[in-house]
Amino acid sequence: MIESEKVKKILYGGDYNPEQWPEEIWEEDMRLFKLAHIDVVTLNVFSWAALQPDETTYDFSKLDKIMELVKKNGLKVCLATSTAAHPAWMARKYPDILRTGNNGMKRKFGSRHNSCPNSPTYRKYSVALAEKLAERYKDYDNIVAWHISNEYGGECYCENCEKTFRVWLRKKYKTIEELNRVWNTSFWGHTMYDWEDVVLPDLRSEEFSQDGRPRTNFQGISLDYRRFNSDSMLECFTLERDAVKKYTPDIPVTTNLMGCYQPLDYQKWGKELDFVSWDSYPAFGAEFYHNAMCHDVMRGLKQGKPYALMEQTPSVSNWHTYCALKRPGVMRLLSYQALAHGSDTVMFFQMRRSIGACEKYHGAVIDHVGTENTRVFREISALGAELEKLGDTTLGARSNAKVAIVFDWDNWWASSLSAGPSDAINYYDEVYQYYRTLSQLHIPVDMISVEDDISNYKLVIAPLLYMCKDGFDEKIRQFVKLGGTFLTTYFSGYVEDHDLVITGGYPGRLKDILGIWVEESDAVPVEDIGIHHTFGYEGETYPAEIICDLLHLEGAESLGNYDNDFYAGMPAVTKNHFGEGNAYYVATRSDEAFYRKLFTQIAAECGLESFVDANPEVLVETTLRENAKGRFLFLLNHGEKTAEVTLKMGGTDLLGGKKYEDGAVVALEAKGVAVLELS
Ligand code: GLA
Ligand code: ZN
Repeated sequence: MIESEKVKKILYGGDYNPEQWPEEIWEEDMRLFKLAHIDVVTLNVFSWAALQPDETTYDFSKLDKIMELVKKNGLKVCLATSTAAHPAWMARKYPDILRTGNNGMKRKFGSRHNSCPNSPTYRKYSVALAEKLAERYKDYDNIVAWHISNEYGGECYCENCEKTFRVWLRKKYKTIEELNRVWNTSFWGHTMYDWEDVVLPDLRSEEFSQDGRPRTNFQGISLDYRRFNSDSMLECFTLERDAVKKYTPDIPVTTNLMGCYQPLDYQKWGKELDFVSWDSYPAFGAEFYHNAMCHDVMRGLKQGKPYALMEQTPSVSNWHTYCALKRPGVMRLLSYQALAHGSDTVMFFQMRRSIGACEKYHGAVIDHVGTENTRVFREISALGAELEKLGDTTLGARSNAKVAIVFDWDNWWASSLSAGPSDAINYYDEVYQYYRTLSQLHIPVDMISVEDDISNYKLVIAPLLYMCKDGFDEKIRQFVKLGGTFLTTYFSGYVEDHDLVITGGYPGRLKDILGIWVEESDAVPVEDIGIHHTFGYEGETYPAEIICDLLHLEGAESLGNYDNDFYAGMPAVTKNHFGEGNAYYVATRSDEAFYRKLFTQIAAECGLESFVDANPEVLVETTLRENAKGRFLFLLNHGEKTAEVTLKMGGTDLLGGKKYEDGAVVALEAKGVAVLELS
């Protein structure tokens, strides 16, 4: 990730807030960091109030001391710009800086991530601060990255945003007639006569909330608002980025993302970052494939370039309902999970546990007790020693997957804003079914955007491709024609880029590739009502859930039919031979056993290889990274019991030193990890 002469190993450290502590403690921190093999600190994340006590005064005295201290102690710095929480004086003097909620409520000073992204005041002062920081610290050669703001997120519905939304729309659609067309405003008499008629789609206009779920009367408007909000925040990022680049053109710039975070189109953001970094906080007890998929989505933002794990908790997060501890070994396991998927850093939030406000019970490298005598500290130093031994061996290594799963923010927004056909439709969940299946089969996957090059993949899966954007069908058509395999599902191909239905039969632009016509779709209630479909030569049956498409074959063959209701006998899974390749359609949601069977078949057909042989029940995750130094097979046992996998290729475990022959069985203890350098 941070490809620089300055970085010779997996960076290890995290968010350090010495400004919250008396200076007497700082030297003790340095001692403890050394013990834990910490080599990088993220500084200055929330210091705007201290750095700029009023409109004209800047005071860097404390940060100067901190920068000197960490430099003297050989630490590298990820330097933040502090702009994720504005100072109180700014809110008092310039209320335009405050956000407005979707209920029209203007916020007061408080919390964080609280600045309106389109506030001229915010933009002026955040950029000024970023520039001053760069000017002041440009000669520190231990700065390895800029960390702009912190976890951009949320939304704003203030008057300024409304005005800027009109400008954004004008730039995009040019004429009011085009705006009326793409929003289909002839419905419900919504014709806009003037750009001034445009208002933000909040709870006072188009949107409403149903069982906590955001709903809208005009999908086109709500969708454009989400694009606009994401762009507005991205602009705040790029303005600061360009400001620091004036003084430090060679220091890479990032901001910490949040994995699969719906409000921001991270694929657009990825293009603007020098490297991707993200904060990983998997919920306790969640299936590990969720975090794995987020890692792969993050890696995909820059087409596989290594990224940074910017934050994870060493032990506990304060914001869950039940703040369970990471069990012994889990912090290490999740750190290696990040490395396995393409991170070149392991970093924590927070280095020393704060004593006041809402994060005082959030995990830290140094706990309130203040010593090295804690379980968490011991685990952290042990991992630190291990990473030191790994050195630069795995740095820069990439994955080389032959399967891509499309993950697209517009589809995520559009499918969740859709009124019908079912509230149970969930874009993330649908994608996840496919991701998990391939992980269980130990077949590596890249998570890609619709803009990425797909020509090197053998299989491209685009679950719930509700919106088939302009040009994407042609990309798929060429891919399949040349021998690729494509798979999509129910609720795909319905609309174009503005959420306007493509007439002529579903799945619209994908019809010819898939060789089917979907005439109707039946929504299945979440309570099991026993609809099934068959699949496979033995005619086994599997559940059909969420949506059952009623489709006709137009060239494709059926691989399995529904068993019940008036559509019994109609196809539920189809395959179309198209050009040199094949296109599969899964017309419903099914269960794990079905997907496993389907992909075992597709993998054989496409010549996709798995890394290891293992019983599918075994909770071992496998990934491969390659660089000029070698090929590294990561084996991670997320289970509670010792688990065995059979290697296809032998290698030496870089952690334990053990050698394995081809075909050897590796036994991993519970939460155990191996990193095999393949021979
Ligand atoms: C986020 C933030 C941090 C901190 C942690 C706590 O990731 O970036 O500032 O609040 O959450 O989990
Ligand atoms: Zn605003």
